[in-house]
Amino acid sequence: MAEVLPNYLIKLEDVSRIYRSGNRHVEALKNVNLKIPAGKLVIIKGPSGSGKTTILNIMGGLDQPTSGKVYFQGREIGNYSERELTRIRRKKIGFVFQTYGLIQSFTAFENVELPLRINHYSWKKRRERAYECLRLVGLEKRADHRIFELSGGEQQRVGIARALVNKPEMILADEPTGELDFATSMKVMELFRKLAGKGVTICMVTHDPAVMEYGDLIYEIIDGQIINEEVIVHE
Ligand SMILES: Nc1ncnc2c1ncn2[C@@H]1O[C@H](COP(=O)(O)OP(=O)(O)OP(=O)(O)O)[C@@H](O)[C@H]1O
Ligand SMILES: [Mg+2]
Repeated sequence: MAEVLPNYLIKLEDVSRIYRSGNRHVEALKNVNLKIPAGKLVIIKGPSGSGKTTILNIMGGLDQPTSGKVYFQGREIGNYSERELTRIRRKKIGFVFQTYGLIQSFTAFENVELPLRINHYSWKKRRERAYECLRLVGLEKRADHRIFELSGGEQQRVGIARALVNKPEMILADEPTGELDFATSMKVMELFRKLAGKGVTICMVTHDPAVMEYGDLIYEIIDGQIINEEVIVHE
């Protein structure tokens, strides 16, 4: 029997996002309705330009919809103060950006440690936790390398380690395995499954069918609209 999906961490209700610049406008999302169940691994797939990054940014409160409502833990995001939203982003959500968003002149370790510094952890805690996360993505040997000295896949893994370091309740990941070989991708997905098993909610974008098999729920988006929703039951 399919398990009934539990509580929702995030809900999007009739969300539209129009980007305007000058007299041009792009309707990136059109009346999107979706729910991200807590403790599940949710995958968003769709062609380039279909609105995937836009959805993740809106879910994480990095961007606001032009119309529609976004709920985080049952409360509408518009009702959170800017201060509360910043706190949620810092403490509850780990972002893996499509472009990594790493500080090039910092080492891998320094990049991963930075969110802990912002949250005022002790040096000992910071060092332990940052190394632990680098180890989880197989990069402890590269800890002292600067970002520009790392390969694309290594940089991507630093981005994943940084997203994990605060032990977030939710991970929003934009093609986190895009630069990784098959074996490394599978390791990252096993790590994500393990985290979901511990109650972490994960929402990630991917194009890779092998990666999708790890999902509990797959949304397909085309041209700013969710066209399909598929629940996967794992043995
Ligand atoms: N800041 C922006 N200003 C104007 N248009 C934008 C902006 N950001 C995105 N868009 C447009 O919105 C649409 C959706 O973009 P989005 O980045 O969400 O796509 P995506 O599904 O993540 O694509 P990809 O797989 O290539 O990363 C695209 O047509 C894009 O050109
Ligand atoms: Mg994108």
